[in-house]
Amino acid sequence: MTERTRTATMDKIAALSKRRGFVFPGSEIYGGLANTWDYGPLGVELKRNVKDLWWRTFVHRRRDIVGIDAGILMHPRVWEASGHVESFNDPLVDCKTCKSRFRADHLIEERLGLHVEGKSPAEMTEIIQSAGLRCPVCGNATLTEARQFNMMFRTTIGPVEETGVSVYLRPETAQAMFVQYKNIVATGRVKVPFGIAQIGKAFRNEITPGNFIFRLLEFEQMEIEYFVRPEASADAFDAWLSDMRGWVRLIGLDEAHVRVREHEADELSHYSSRTVDFEYLFPGPMGWRELYGLANRSDFDLRQHQEYSGDDLTYFDQAENRRYLPYVIEPTFGVDRTCLVLMLDAYDEEATVDINGKPETRVVLRFEPRIAPCKAAVLPLMKKPELSAVARGLFEELDASVDAYVDYDETGNIGKRYRRQDEIGTPFCFTIDYDTLEDRTVTVRMRDDMSQERLPLADVPAWLAERIV
Ligand code: GAP
Repeated sequence: MTERTRTATMDKIAALSKRRGFVFPGSEIYGGLANTWDYGPLGVELKRNVKDLWWRTFVHRRRDIVGIDAGILMHPRVWEASGHVESFNDPLVDCKTCKSRFRADHLIEERLGLHVEGKSPAEMTEIIQSAGLRCPVCGNATLTEARQFNMMFRTTIGPVEETGVSVYLRPETAQAMFVQYKNIVATGRVKVPFGIAQIGKAFRNEITPGNFIFRLLEFEQMEIEYFVRPEASADAFDAWLSDMRGWVRLIGLDEAHVRVREHEADELSHYSSRTVDFEYLFPGPMGWRELYGLANRSDFDLRQHQEYSGDDLTYFDQAENRRYLPYVIEPTFGVDRTCLVLMLDAYDEEATVDINGKPETRVVLRFEPRIAPCKAAVLPLMKKPELSAVARGLFEELDASVDAYVDYDETGNIGKRYRRQDEIGTPFCFTIDYDTLEDRTVTVRMRDDMSQERLPLADVPAWLAERIV
């Protein structure tokens, strides 16, 4: 990616998302539902491209990983075994004056710049009180002590709440891979080392959501549980670190905006013996925040599920003629955070002139073509039947030959139509003009530098197909 001044802000991305149909506030006509968002026509294409590319990269192109698609509701014992009932908590403080509620760790991080993940509520209370932190909403020094709050959403199976079975909406997709591990091994298609991959929704009752789609109540994860011999877990971890870096490059993120941070011992989740976060440099006060994670979960989950279910989850390694519980390396990727950072990274404002020579700012989303929600647009130079007929023909041909979203637009002046395509990140526009009728060539206009070249009309499908993989 070329060096350029960073002009993206979260507010600009949220505004562009709404204006152009990437992401809309949820339930807006009812006044909205805080921190819920819906993907619009372009957002859904972007999200699909991310998920499809991830699946192709980590499942279809590898012989050692298979996929599953499990339910969101699982047996409640799963979450006891996994440790989520006991430990999946956020430390909260309330303001006794205005009744606002905050994450104690976020408050400390924002006000004092201290990382306190892993500290106990009592330790956080001590930090808040000795620093004299006040309520960020009303300014009073009336914050309660920090206490733990479980983040899992509960619901009930059965029509009557009192007699129904209480279950949780899964807070991570990971557990289904452990619960189905025995069935996957039994299908006989895999041998350690192997991975199980899943893409799906997860739900967390986050108390400090916000920052647009960064922290959501309902979000999608792309996760792999990679089962290895216990002795091989350190090497497998390093191999995954490198594969995750490869993914970051593949989707075209600016390397200066991504760093890898090793977790301190007191920050580690209850299941992890080593974790690194891939952090992304968000603009403005957000700064470096978690984008993805990589954890060595050891044999924690299989051991727990073995104990809680009473089922034998050991693996018989024929090559080594021994039985063991595999260790698990877990690369985890948030889909929504990927979409967000792709938009932030792609956003650019460029000083230019309009067709009348007047200065204007061109807003461009410089997505990698393989990620761009709209791959190309077919534009007749003017809305004239003879031009539209040829343009329609090309559009239909592309529609049939390219397995992706291609746009067709014939309204308004051509300059405005190019600007609209720039703003949604369409890498190529094919323009049909009067020369096309004479010589069967079209103009291809490049989003990034607005350069133009002529191509034979018949070559367009192959030309495009080559550039969007
Ligand atoms: N199975 C491990 C696990 O769930 P995590 O760090 O809690 O680990 C994994 O979550 C990824 O899911 C994060 O790196 C992030 O990309 C995404 N994620 C987590 N919580 C989220 C939230 N509330 N909203 C949006 N994405 C979230």
